[in-house]
Amino acid sequence: MTERLTAAQVDRAAELLRAGALVAFPTETVYGLGGDATDDRAVAAIFAAKERPRFNPLIVHVTDLAAAEPLASFDARARDLVRRFWPGPLTLVLQRSVACPVSALASAGLDTVALRAPAHALAQALLRAVGRPVAAPSANRSGRVSPTTAGHVLAELDDRIAAVLDGGPCRVGIESTVLDLTQTPPALLRPGGVTREQLEATLGPLTAAGAGAPRAPGMLERHYAPVRPLRLQATTVAADEALLAFGEPLRGAAATINLSPTGDLVEAAANLFAALRALDQPHFRAIAVMPVPERGLGAAINDRLRRAARGRAD
Ligand code: TXA
Ligand code: MG
Repeated sequence: MTERLTAAQVDRAAELLRAGALVAFPTETVYGLGGDATDDRAVAAIFAAKERPRFNPLIVHVTDLAAAEPLASFDARARDLVRRFWPGPLTLVLQRSVACPVSALASAGLDTVALRAPAHALAQALLRAVGRPVAAPSANRSGRVSPTTAGHVLAELDDRIAAVLDGGPCRVGIESTVLDLTQTPPALLRPGGVTREQLEATLGPLTAAGAGAPRAPGMLERHYAPVRPLRLQATTVAADEALLAFGEPLRGAAATINLSPTGDLVEAAANLFAALRALDQPHFRAIAVMPVPERGLGAAINDRLRRAARGRAD
């Protein structure tokens, strides 16, 4: 059963998160479905709990600029926005730092990471107690509306998550604004709590989501794709191919990484992007990918594999 925790039980919520469990928590916008952003399995479990059909990248929550700086590259413009709007409903998409400890799955394999410091006092207390970045999409099942009370969260996710931290109703009620600073001019990927006018006063004109910026939320077309061709549904493997295995591996590949020897889809999701990168080496002719079942997280894994197989062109 999902534990319902009060504000006095922040330490319990933090302890669960540090142990890799999922905890929903209030922010000023909506409730987030939190997991340790540095733990691949916890991040995979977020997608499983939400039944997301795709691995869209998740927002990573931090207390402040000092906690965010080691994760991504902040230029003067990013710092300026942070000074004005953090903590608050503004999410910045930035280049991941080389040593960024955030799970590749939370970035959906991209070289970027979305960061936000929430303004809610309980969220801040939780993040301080966890001492690590926390990945959190809105705490609803895929395709449903975002929850603004602990009751909404339980209606959607009871028994699927370890706990919900009850902070009462959310003040803003709509999600944070998502601003991509890796594009020039910066692209507004999702309108939200901080308005376009507020941002343009600092940045000058922005590119609208959709208008030449194909990274609109939910329609995220830019995605991680390996340079080597991907051969899906492989039932045999050649000696000059690398093998991305699932379950009992095929024999004879030049190199093999197994997403999950036991056929565990959460484990497979957790390993997916790191495995693809590791096998994407010039001395392999192609990457042969064994079939992954369509059930549960398998649907999202197969979606990403199909996109990766189509390559960088789309
Ligand atoms: O208000 C909010 O932002 C809530 C609360 C819980 O903080 N969180 C939230 O997270 O709405 P989520 O994961 O549902 O929204 C993530 C949005 C998606 O539209 C996604 O496409 C975009 O941010 N996003 C995340 N990382 C990205 C990246 N690296 N590049 C482009 N877009 C990214
Ligand atoms: Mg959402």
